[in-house]
Amino acid sequence: MTAERTASAVQREGQPSMPQVAYLNGRYVPRAQARVRAEDRGYQFGDGVYEVIPVYSGKLIAADRHFERLGRSLGELRIAWPMRRAALEIVTREVVARNGIQQGAVYIQVTRGVAPRDHKFPKDPVAPGLFVTAKRTKPMPAALLREGAAIVTVPDQRWGRCDIKSLNLLPNVLAKQAAAEQGAHEAWLVDEDGNVTEGSSTSAWIVTGDGVLATRPNGTEILPGVTRAIVVDVVRDLGLKLELRAFSLDEARHAREAFLTSTNNYVLPITRIDGKPVGDGKPGPTAQRLRAAYLAATDRVPS
Ligand code: PDD
Repeated sequence: MTAERTASAVQREGQPSMPQVAYLNGRYVPRAQARVRAEDRGYQFGDGVYEVIPVYSGKLIAADRHFERLGRSLGELRIAWPMRRAALEIVTREVVARNGIQQGAVYIQVTRGVAPRDHKFPKDPVAPGLFVTAKRTKPMPAALLREGAAIVTVPDQRWGRCDIKSLNLLPNVLAKQAAAEQGAHEAWLVDEDGNVTEGSSTSAWIVTGDGVLATRPNGTEILPGVTRAIVVDVVRDLGLKLELRAFSLDEARHAREAFLTSTNNYVLPITRIDGKPVGDGKPGPTAQRLRAAYLAATDRVPS
């Protein structure tokens, strides 16, 4: 791409032409020059964890919950914090500031570090690898909000500890690709009992014919979504009926409403599952109300 085209592309997207900065293993570096060692265990084994935290008005949203979850993921895999949590929070905010991000997301990745390839943990402690980047997100397309999202379903082929936000995302990658190839926004993962666990990168919800909200309880089969947890609080504050339970794909197909939650999608109504309409095929009132309430609860302007 020529410099001229790059400049106009940047202008089109309305982004200031700031150099992108990453934090890598102790240093702020130009993102394009961030290099990791080939024997980083994150690269060779997927031996690491990550977090994605929303940014709004240049501030981290629900930072405490995200850093709590990061600490839990690290603890479950017995990977040390790469620095004290308070220091990592400062680095994370600094990456957001240096990239001039007002609305977007910050990505934090921690690996077990660099060691000669051997499945078991390195005998002598090595420094965990740390990589932090931030990106701007574009507003969600108006048509997606107006029409709702289409999703497809695929078998859940993941491991038994989906509560850990690990770097091993191959089944999630394949599921999202399957969705993209069918023109859908997301793929819901279905377990061997025919129950929906969650989306490839989102939490799954329905509203039953009786107007009761249902989403799977936290456990080893799903990631404890931060957006999901905030929406659970919002639902309770609004006095809506909620059941934390598994629901089947069949129940979802016949639900009054379906929707998904995540850092990047907020609350997004689902209007088609595997090509068939959910309810009347339009974004449901509960999902729309929860989207607005979730954004208000996290001090954001509805969008
Ligand atoms: N994905 N389930 C899975 C499997 C996820 O990967 C995610 C998040 C969620 C929603 O969690 P939260 O509300 O905390 O964003 C549920 C992130 C955004 C990602 O992988 O990019």
